[in-house]
Amino acid sequence: MKRSDLSPAHQKRFVPVPDRSGAFALIPLPTPTMVPLAGIEHEVLKAHESLGLVRQLITDLPNPDLIARTLDRREAVKSSQIEGTHAEVDELFEYEVTGDDEGLPGDVRVTLNYVKALDVGLQAARQAGNSAITKSLIQDLHRVLMEGVKDYRDVPGELRTIQNWIGSGNIYDASLVPPPPNQVSPCLDDLMGLLQYQADGVAVVSIVVRLAIAHAQFEAIHPFRDGNGRVGRLLLPIMLAAEDYPPVYLAGYLKSNQRSYYDTLLAVQTRGEWQAWVRFLARGIVESCNEAAEMTRRLLALRDEWRQRVSSLRGDATGRKLVEVLIGSPIVTANSVKEQLGVSFPAANTAIGQLVDLGILQSSERRRNRIFVAGQVVALLKRGGE
Ligand SMILES: Nc1ncnc2c1ncn2[C@@H]1O[C@H](COP(=O)(O)OP(=O)(O)O)[C@@H](O)[C@H]1O
Ligand SMILES: [Mg+2]
Repeated sequence: MKRSDLSPAHQKRFVPVPDRSGAFALIPLPTPTMVPLAGIEHEVLKAHESLGLVRQLITDLPNPDLIARTLDRREAVKSSQIEGTHAEVDELFEYEVTGDDEGLPGDVRVTLNYVKALDVGLQAARQAGNSAITKSLIQDLHRVLMEGVKDYRDVPGELRTIQNWIGSGNIYDASLVPPPPNQVSPCLDDLMGLLQYQADGVAVVSIVVRLAIAHAQFEAIHPFRDGNGRVGRLLLPIMLAAEDYPPVYLAGYLKSNQRSYYDTLLAVQTRGEWQAWVRFLARGIVESCNEAAEMTRRLLALRDEWRQRVSSLRGDATGRKLVEVLIGSPIVTANSVKEQLGVSFPAANTAIGQLVDLGILQSSERRRNRIFVAGQVVALLKRGGE
C-alpha cells in the first residue's frame, strides 16, 4: 500500500506505524451513511426484488427451519474455506452429530464454531432487530468463532492490541494496513451507527447498500487479530435477519469470485470507489437468492421423492418421520434419531435400516461411530455454487 495508491481524502488518514520505520496504516474514513449509486440503481433494485422473492418463498414453507439449518451449515463451510479451511459440509454434519472429529480435518471444529456464532447472531437479531447488533455482539461472534482454536494468538472476542495487515507476510508489501490498535474501538463505534440503523422516514438507506457499506467498513477496520473476514461475513445474514429478511448467504459467491471480492474491497478502502463494490455485492445477492431458491426447491423435491418411497412401509411410522427431518439433518446416527424423534433406540435402528434398504440413507463406517448419510442431500450441497 503506497501513498500514491490512495485518494487525496485517504492520504490524510495515512499515519506512520510506530516502531516500523517507513510503514503506514490507514484509518478508514468515517462510515458513510449513503454512497453514490449513479449507474447501479437498477442492480440495487434487482437485489431488493430477489430478497423479497426469497422472503416470500421462505414464508410459504411449512417448516423453514429445516432448510435454514442446512443452508446455514453450507454457508459456514464456504465462508470458512475463503480463509483456507478444508472441512467439507458432510464432515461438518458428521462432526456435529457424533461430536467426534477423529479422522476429520482439524478445522471442522472452527467451522462448527461458525455455525454457533451464526446462531447467536441470528437469534439476537430476530429478537431485537438492528438494536441487537452492538459492539458486544460483534465481540461475542468472534469469541464463539475462535473458541478453542489453538493457533489463535490473542484472546477470542477481544479487540486487537497490535498492528495487523492484510495480503502479505510483510507489512511493507501489505495490500492494506488497517488502523493502529488505539483507533479500532473508535472506528467500530462509528460503524455502529450504521449497523443500528433506524429509518428516519425521510431518507431510507437500502439494506443492500447498508450491507455493502458495513462489510467494507468492517474489513477496513480489521478489529481482531484474525477472523475478521468471517465475522464480517457473519454480519451480512445477521443484518438481513434483523430486518426480517431471510438470511441470504453470500460466501459461495464471494468464494467463487474471491479475486474481485478483494480487489473491489481494496478500491473502496483506498479510494472510496463505492459503486463497483455495491454493484459486486448486489449481483452477489441476486445470485445467492437464486441459488437459495433453487436449493430449497431441490431439497423439497428430494423430500417428496422420499415420501413416495416410504409410503409403502408398514407398521411403525418412525421411518416416515425420519424422511421429514433428513433435509435438515442429512447425516444421522441411531442415537441422533432416537433423540431427534423421541423414539426408542431399537425403533431408531429399524427406521434407519428401512431407509438404507430404500436407498435413501447409506451406511458409512467410522472408527468409533456408525453414521448414515442421505447422500443425495450431501451431493446437492457440494455441487451447488461451485
Ligand atoms: N484488500 C483486501 N485484500 C484481501 N482481503 C481483504 C482486503 N480487505 C479486507 N479483506 C478481508 O480480510 C479477510 C481476511 O482477514 P482475516 O482476519 O484473516 O479473516 P479470517 O481469519 O476470517 O480469515 C478477507 O476474507 C477479506 O474479507
Ligand atoms: Mg485469517
